[in-house]
Amino acid sequence: MADKLVYVLNGPNLNLLGTREPEIYGADTLDDIGNALSDRAAQLGLTIDMRQSNHEGHLIDWMHEARSEGALAVLLNAGALTHTSIALYDAIRAIELPVIEVHLSNPHAREKFRHKSYVSMAAKGTISGFGANSYLLALEAAAAL
Ligand code: DQA
Repeated sequence: MADKLVYVLNGPNLNLLGTREPEIYGADTLDDIGNALSDRAAQLGLTIDMRQSNHEGHLIDWMHEARSEGALAVLLNAGALTHTSIALYDAIRAIELPVIEVHLSNPHAREKFRHKSYVSMAAKGTISGFGANSYLLALEAAAAL
């Protein structure tokens, strides 16, 4: 049987991981995270398709694609769009796939404007605050679905 597919979608500014405020987001680059995820996915019998965009519409198109490709789940770190995007909220509801919200930092321990998450309101669950490890924990959660 083919491995089950998990989409890993990353929003604005996450292409800068490694150099972007490392005291908050850590030293790992998005490629480092993708490599660690691929290794763990292989052990779990999963395949990941990991992407990043600074544009909201790309993320929405990819969510739709996850559904048409029959993905098992979507791991979504929407970056700052987490706190603003009703369109992403609608997309999560529309695709009827389990979406696991991921954050490197713990937004609730940060500025007040990060405390609201439109993604949380539609997601299956959230893993935040564990740095790059948040993604691996989210993959474990996807594998257990
Ligand atoms: C983030 C948290 C968001 O508040 C922020 O805008 C990001 C990164 C995180 O992974 O900790 O871009 O999603």
